[in-house]
Amino acid sequence: MEITGKISEVREQVKEWRRQGLSVGLVPTMGYLHEGHKSLITRAVAENDRVVVSVFVNPMQFGPTEDLESYPRDMDRDAALCEEAGASLIFHPEPSEMYHEDFSSFVDMNTLTGGLCGKTRPIHFRGVCTVVSKLFNIVVPDRAYFGQKDAQQLAVIRHMVSDLNFGIEIVGCPIIREEDGLAKSSRNTYLNEEERKAALILNKALTEGRKLVESGEKDADAVRRVITDKINTEPLAKIDYVEVVDWNTLETVEKIDGPILAAIAVYIGKTRLIDNFIVE
Ligand code: PAJ
Repeated sequence: MEITGKISEVREQVKEWRRQGLSVGLVPTMGYLHEGHKSLITRAVAENDRVVVSVFVNPMQFGPTEDLESYPRDMDRDAALCEEAGASLIFHPEPSEMYHEDFSSFVDMNTLTGGLCGKTRPIHFRGVCTVVSKLFNIVVPDRAYFGQKDAQQLAVIRHMVSDLNFGIEIVGCPIIREEDGLAKSSRNTYLNEEERKAALILNKALTEGRKLVESGEKDADAVRRVITDKINTEPLAKIDYVEVVDWNTLETVEKIDGPILAAIAVYIGKTRLIDNFIVE
C-alpha cells in the first residue's frame, strides 16, 4: 500500500490501474479511522480491484467555532487500518495541496442542505460537496462509499452526483456501532467516562422511536415526542434537533407513509453527536 500527498501521484497511479483494466473504489474520510470507516473500506475492497482511501481533515467544512484544530489525527494508525482492510493507496494531502492560495470555486446545493445538520452548520455541506467533488475529479473512481451514519451527507452526495453527472456509483453502508449501541465516531474520543455512558441515550431513544414506527405509528410527531422525551431523561444531554423527514427529500413529514429518516443531533457536554435510523 502506498501513501501520497500529491494529486499528480494519485492521478498517475489511477491512470496505470486503468491501463491494466482495473476498477477503482474511493473511500473519502477525515482520518482517525475506526470500525465504521473500516467497514466502508472492506466493502470497497470486495467490490473493486483497487481502493483509494482519502484522509483529509477538510477545513472548508468546519465552521469558525467548530473543532477543526482539535479534530483527532493519527496517520500511523490510519495507515495500519487501511493496509489491514486491503486498501491500495492512501491520499493524505496537505490543505495547501487541495486549496491553492487563490482558490475560489465551490459546489453548493439549494435543496437537502437547509435542515437537520445544515441548520446549525450553515457552511458545512458546501465544504463537503466541494471537497468530495475535488476527490471525485482527482481519483475518478467507479464507486465511492459513504456511511449512513451521516445520512444527510449521503443524500446530499447522491443528489450532487446526479445533478452534476459525475457518473460514479454511490454506495451507502450501514451504521457500525460499539457493542453497547453507541454509533462509532472519531468524535467519541472527546467524551469522558461519564459522558461516554450518557451518550448511550442517543441509540436508546432511536430504538424506542423505531419500535413505534415499526408498530405502525403514522403520526411523525408522536415518534419525535418519544425520542425527545427519552433523550431528556439524560441530564448530560442537550438536544440540537430531533427530526423525522422524508428520506428522499429530507423534508419534515407529518404523516409517515413512505421511506423516512429519523435523525438526531445531541450535545453530550460539549460534544455534538449524531445518529439516525431509516425505515424504507
Ligand atoms: P468522516 O467523518 O471521517 O467519515 C468518513 C465516512 O465514514 C463517511 O461516509 C461516514 O458516514 C462514514 N462513517 C463514519 N462513522 C461511521 C459508522 N459508525 N458506521 C458507518 N460509517 C461511518 O464524513 C466525512 O468524514 C467527511 O465529511 C468527508 C465525506 C470525508 C468529506 O470531508
